[in-house]
Amino acid sequence: MLIEPVIKGVVARTAHPEGCKKAVQNQIDFAKSKNSIVGGAKKVLILGASSGFGLASRIALTFGGSAADTIGVSFERGPSDKGVGTAGWYNNIYFREAAEKEGRIAKNFVGDAFSPAVRQQVVDYIRDEFGGQVDLVVYSLATGVRPNPETGEMWRSCLKTVGEPFAGQTVNIEKDCLEESVLEPASQADIEATEKVMGGEDWQEWIQFLLDQDVMAKGAKTVAYSYIGPEVTYPIYHHGTLGIAKKHLHATSDVLNEQLASIGGTAHVSVCKALVTKASVFIPAFSPYILCLFKVMKQHGLHEGCIEQMQRMFSEHLYGAEQTVVDSNRLIRVDDWELRADIQAEVAKLMEQVTSENFTEIGDYQGYKQEFLELNGFALNGVDYQQGTDVEALKALQP
Ligand code: NAD
Ligand code: NA
Repeated sequence: MLIEPVIKGVVARTAHPEGCKKAVQNQIDFAKSKNSIVGGAKKVLILGASSGFGLASRIALTFGGSAADTIGVSFERGPSDKGVGTAGWYNNIYFREAAEKEGRIAKNFVGDAFSPAVRQQVVDYIRDEFGGQVDLVVYSLATGVRPNPETGEMWRSCLKTVGEPFAGQTVNIEKDCLEESVLEPASQADIEATEKVMGGEDWQEWIQFLLDQDVMAKGAKTVAYSYIGPEVTYPIYHHGTLGIAKKHLHATSDVLNEQLASIGGTAHVSVCKALVTKASVFIPAFSPYILCLFKVMKQHGLHEGCIEQMQRMFSEHLYGAEQTVVDSNRLIRVDDWELRADIQAEVAKLMEQVTSENFTEIGDYQGYKQEFLELNGFALNGVDYQQGTDVEALKALQP
């Protein structure tokens, strides 16, 4: 079967397994070429390991100098009669194969990270087969829903403003156009639900559980990921529902940091750069900014993808230095290049010019779309897309 990209709006409905393998391999090659993480973790649990920053964290820690064994938890779908499955499903498999080839453990749990059953399975595995403890927990979940354990109902996060509505333009990758969109102001219930889904509560529950079960090693660290962005995007992100949830995440890192002090450990949030991931393409009205940002950062040779960000974060901030390198709010800042004054001044100039007619020239739409396609295993150099895929053979692959 030939697998073609099928895109609906900003959602890819198909994924190309061989392309996913190549994309994972490209990240592995980058991490190996750097080999720069000194004194890093050896036994790592990654929540949200199958794509974006979580996958890049896993690759950096295994191949970028630390030679870590990893456990990855993710929510992905394998091949069935309905389709070939999700990109993350194949990322898990091909990462594990590559890691095992180098003698590393790479255990995948595919299930709901919010469920007590999955937590227990992970702890049992750490105890029985992973040496008993972990020395780093990466929290990189991105999702729209979280079950409320008391009612069974779902909390649903939303992308809304707080206060005034905000009108802007959003890329439609299916149609290659910019569409007018309006972010509506959130209700108090919207704000609370988004905080439940994307704030720090579940991170805290995980760490508490791992501590209670005595599977956090002496000196163990934990890190979660955040975004802040420049002031032009504050109404959309930092001051909106997601930003409020992220502030909760930041506050949680301080609580966890105190808690982990009892075992000589630490908790941090790393503020990362705006990037194309399965999660981020959903943010309405953010497109003009990210298209102009990519253009300017590439012109300055400062553009990074997930793997460049994570390799830099682990080698220069979380490990390597005597103490974790943070700002005055105790946040790790690998969004430093994005927020450089000269970069933002140029981005602002471009944003003044962007229209729905010229966005493919003023902004880096080609680069944006290329990264989106690559996330799903398409448009990668060195993959023969005319070669058919044997879906039956894929069904035999286990996570
Ligand atoms: P992503 O969609 O690429 O990855 C999300 C991961 O979470 C996947 O592995 C997915 O399988 C997993 N997941 C989702 N729901 C799950 C569930 N119920 N159980 C188990 N696994 C589940 O997203 P990403 O962009 O890498 O986001 C990761 C973090 O980085 C988020 O906190 C996000 O806010 C943050 N961040 C993203 C950007 C950006 O521009 N993309 C920038 C800064 C920070
Ligand atoms: Na992730």
